[in-house]
Amino acid sequence: MDFASLIAEGLTRRGFQATSVHSANEALAHLERAPVDIVVAHVHLSEVSGLELVSRLRDRQSEVLGIVVTSQGSMETAVEAIRAGAYDFISKPVSLATLEVAIQRAVAYQTLRREVQRLRIEVAVARPIDTIIGDSPMIREVTSLVRRVADSSATVLITGESGTGKELVARAIHDLSERRHHPFVAINCGALPPALLESELFGHVRGAFTDARQSRQGLFVQAGDGTLFLDEIGEMPLEMQVKLLRVLQERTLRPVGGDTEVSFGARLITATNRDLEFEIEEKRFREDLFHRINVVQIPVPPLRSRPGDLRALMSYFVQKVAERAGKPVPEISEEATRKLVAYDWPGNVRELQNCVERALALGGMTTITIDELPEKIRGHQVESAVTATGTPDELITLGELERRYIRQVLAATQNNKTSAARILGIDRRSLYRRLHETDAVVPTAGTTDPDPAR
Ligand SMILES: Nc1ncnc2c1ncn2[C@@H]1O[C@H](COP(=O)(O)OP(=O)(O)OP(=O)(O)O)[C@@H](O)[C@H]1O
Ligand SMILES: [Mg+2]
Repeated sequence: MDFASLIAEGLTRRGFQATSVHSANEALAHLERAPVDIVVAHVHLSEVSGLELVSRLRDRQSEVLGIVVTSQGSMETAVEAIRAGAYDFISKPVSLATLEVAIQRAVAYQTLRREVQRLRIEVAVARPIDTIIGDSPMIREVTSLVRRVADSSATVLITGESGTGKELVARAIHDLSERRHHPFVAINCGALPPALLESELFGHVRGAFTDARQSRQGLFVQAGDGTLFLDEIGEMPLEMQVKLLRVLQERTLRPVGGDTEVSFGARLITATNRDLEFEIEEKRFREDLFHRINVVQIPVPPLRSRPGDLRALMSYFVQKVAERAGKPVPEISEEATRKLVAYDWPGNVRELQNCVERALALGGMTTITIDELPEKIRGHQVESAVTATGTPDELITLGELERRYIRQVLAATQNNKTSAARILGIDRRSLYRRLHETDAVVPTAGTTDPDPAR
């Protein structure tokens, strides 16, 4: 048996997975095929030397570590081996025990190196994103998803209530991706009638319809190698959903009135404030399209479920308004801050932003006191479902009690309607109906009552 096979056999007996090959080229070919942690190579290999082998591994930035076996007492070759990029050397005669120690050291080093790499990625992913304010665990989860998904071409579905920052998240993905030097094109799918939406998205040829005096490129093509953001995808009419699905499946599209297929390179991001699974049940959204767009989902949490972010957001908006006006940064009185923190923000970050801007406009940019806050925030009482105490004027109706309790359950389930419905002992559809009737929390979801007589 030759030397390499003998060593491989000895190492196998000691619990390693070892394979022997008989030249550097054979080793390189093997590395292409199978995952290997450590290569033990003799300096004097025919054709390509052991030193050349380790230096090639280094040039490839391969994770494989090389241990070079040198001739007896040749310190010079040992130094050369390390220079060439070997992790270690052992000189002949090789005993299995010495080799085992060297391999174990290399394995330990490699494990450590991989761990450092993993942690480095984790730290990079956990870094905040400048434009997305907030330090709550929920926002950190959002930003880490944004960082992780940015450089892939995966289709992303951003969900969340109105005003939570879905468009902001879509832009952050684009800005962090390699596509950032290409266009970011956004369109609101709910704002256009189906025929117009189709020609907006896919373009049209001259004469496709009465007003089409010239052909026009659609947004899919205009986005180039950038990002196409389809906002309010839940409002896309069913007939357009079929067409969009086809385009996403084929990765080509046909302009309205055209007869040739055009390909596109843009990455797709969609957003909705509707519960698409509920929309599917209600036959308003196609399930196959949902699966196409829901490759990675980023749920953006409502503001009321992350009160810890409120102060940071308030100072961010105050500062922004002041900067724009070229004025010193105004203060927010302690009492106003308390009211702002206690309020439950059904309109989320957008409502907060408007509230701060309005207060500064009213208060002449000096300070925000409760006088500058809208009545609904100034008069907001911290709600509790337990309201059996109090004078008769403070007691509330059953309807109000129900409304408050639903809100409380939604807050406790982080707005997960399926769990909330289960806790409340009603089905999801009834939950939507009640939310709609009482106008609590989710203003846009499930707006049509399928059976108003009930
Ligand atoms: N975490 C945040 N940090 C800073 N600004 C935010 C944050 N979240 C939202 N905003 C700001 O709030 C406003 C509303 O955000 P955005 O338009 O992204 O919400 P949306 O979820 O798309 O709402 P809608 O469903 O109503 O379209 C924007 O001006 C946005 O910049
Ligand atoms: Mg939006």
